Amino acid sequence: MREAVEQLLSRMTRQEKLGQLQIAYRPKLDDAKELVRSGTGSVFWPRSSRATNELQRVAVEETRLGIPLLVGLDVIHGQRTIFPIPLALAASFDPAVAEVCARVSARESASGGVTWTFSPMIDVSRDPRWGRVVEGFGEDPYLNGVFGAAMVRGYQGESLSDPDSMIACAKHFVAYGQPEGGRDYNTVDVSVQRLRNVYLEPFRMAVEAGARTVMAAFNTVSGRPAHVHEGLLTGILKEEWGFAGAVVGDADGVGNLIAHGVAEDLRDGLAQAYAAGLDIEMGGNALGVDGRSPLTDQDVVASRLDDAVRRVLLLKSELGLFERPYADESREVLAPTPESRAAARAAAERSIVLLKNDGTLPIPAGPRRVLLVGPYAESTDHLGAWVQSHAEPSGSLADAIRSLQPDWSLAIAPGADFFGGDPHLHEAARAAAADADLVIVAVGEPSAITGEASSRSDLRLPGDQEALISAIADSGVPSVVVLFNGRPLVTSAWIDRAPVVLEAWHLGTEAPAAVLRILTGEVNPAGRLPMSFPRSPGQVPIYYAHENTGRPARSAAVLGEERRDVGLHGPDNTDDRYTSKYLDLELGPEFPFGHGLSYTTFEYGDIRLERDTIPLRDLQHGATISVGVQVTNTGDLDGDEVIQVFLRDRVASLAQPVRRLCAFTRATLAAGESVALSFPIGAQQLGFWDNDARFRVESGTFEFHVGGGLSGTREALLRVTR
Ligand code: IFM
Repeated sequence: MREAVEQLLSRMTRQEKLGQLQIAYRPKLDDAKELVRSGTGSVFWPRSSRATNELQRVAVEETRLGIPLLVGLDVIHGQRTIFPIPLALAASFDPAVAEVCARVSARESASGGVTWTFSPMIDVSRDPRWGRVVEGFGEDPYLNGVFGAAMVRGYQGESLSDPDSMIACAKHFVAYGQPEGGRDYNTVDVSVQRLRNVYLEPFRMAVEAGARTVMAAFNTVSGRPAHVHEGLLTGILKEEWGFAGAVVGDADGVGNLIAHGVAEDLRDGLAQAYAAGLDIEMGGNALGVDGRSPLTDQDVVASRLDDAVRRVLLLKSELGLFERPYADESREVLAPTPESRAAARAAAERSIVLLKNDGTLPIPAGPRRVLLVGPYAESTDHLGAWVQSHAEPSGSLADAIRSLQPDWSLAIAPGADFFGGDPHLHEAARAAAADADLVIVAVGEPSAITGEASSRSDLRLPGDQEALISAIADSGVPSVVVLFNGRPLVTSAWIDRAPVVLEAWHLGTEAPAAVLRILTGEVNPAGRLPMSFPRSPGQVPIYYAHENTGRPARSAAVLGEERRDVGLHGPDNTDDRYTSKYLDLELGPEFPFGHGLSYTTFEYGDIRLERDTIPLRDLQHGATISVGVQVTNTGDLDGDEVIQVFLRDRVASLAQPVRRLCAFTRATLAAGESVALSFPIGAQQLGFWDNDARFRVESGTFEFHVGGGLSGTREALLRVTR
């Protein structure tokens, strides 16, 4: 394979080489043909296997060397069968769910000629104002890394030459998830230790899992735009990690260098980007409109040019495109199969998080009078961000109730709107509640205000939906709030009045059926929040793994409940005044990372450490210890539990996170069943990166906290001796 690539490379002109280093950004089919004729090496998917084959035919038959195309598309959480948004997939705490989503997506996409998806997005995101939190796996680096790696395995399969596989792209390299103020595309200024420990870690894991492409981020990283950041693209990614795949730019990311004020014009930007380690430019047209590049011989040195082209040709070769450039049009998957639907429904069910429950859920079997209110009652906006028009739509929650719960008598009242509002609608909904045994309040965010370029400064339910929740609470009829959204929301105005709250995200093609099966208890919920839900946007960024401060605020529980009465967090509280907190907010988020309830209960035994002392040297030579725990389902229902292992390094040379997730698993336990689990822990988990880019494992005391979330955990100590 490598030899054939070298031979081909040796026959290429400079113009032909440059053509391989660009992907045409969403051109019309005829324009795409022209671009391919003039040498463009990659295109966006032209929406069918037939059109893709037309383009491949131009590349193979009408260009001098007949090099086939990479065909890219943003397949983010499904192509025809739509799975939950990635943030929801993360809530499953089950990487197998993400792997299946990616595998099904690859099969459906590759059958239509797609060879490359721009997914997974593994930008750690701790600011829910940023619209793209929907596309990633939340606030934790380890969770992002585990899910990113699972998606890579699913997309790329055992081999890229498998016709059901496509190339994955880990994006956006790097720290795109920390824009100032949560405004998309904004500045990122980050210390070396945080860059390495938080933002780079998921990319390291995705590259280790075999991701063959990585996309440069739009943002600057401490002043230098990622597209021209040689230290990141070449230094860390290619040299330190040995990444042999290709780095692609984001859409017009090179052109944006002019607005960033680091390039004079496109030629200058391209020259800087290719020199820094970019291999494929997206959309700005490195070749020039007439097929002649503005770049001179001096702009891209020959060795760098060859290195980039080699990487691209190798990908084409690994995909088997030189032997099989065409998709089999008779095999193109145009709609979900029963199997893909079942997989999407299972994924949706596993992603739902029960935030609050006073016992109203599950809804007992039998006839009932149900009132369904809210803008999501009859909405079919369940597919979520990035879904394209060729995807299979979902029905609405009302449709699902009608077909799956025929013995319910269903009444519907809109009650509120995403935009604007009409108090008469709340009143009408409240009046209708009088004739119901149960009200389901289906509210949320339309998917159009989530995703790229969809930052929000206000994290409340939009429109007049909060007023609807209050009106239903006023009715006194038992009610369940179901949230359909793509980011953590601020719920403080109504959360105390809502006895039951279910987080149902944007769950894809099978969303309504999945929600209903959770409501009725056919499926026991076990999802956990992958991001903290703040009490107010003023608290953002808020995330569980914040670093120790010298003045940690103490919770009411620590200070004593009576302090609450005298204004624990008010300005009069001089006892706890000079600590890190807001005067006008309770400590901590409304719902923390890792939170989620079940219809059953679980108990944890004591943590069993294989040993409670280990010499530092042993860790440095690869030794691990196991952290064990027994978990029992103590309730009457079968269910899943998400066992989370958190670590705290008590004393280190740099301030450490108060806790960080170092292992987790999701276990299915029948009622009464116990399971003994163990998690290996070694230097990788106990160590951290310092500001000189050195990975350090230090002696001292480490706390382990194991449980179904951050609170109520079991604890054990490990001493690492010098
Ligand atoms: O892949 C995306 C990226 O995440 C955001 N900008 C556009 C690209 C291609 O559509």
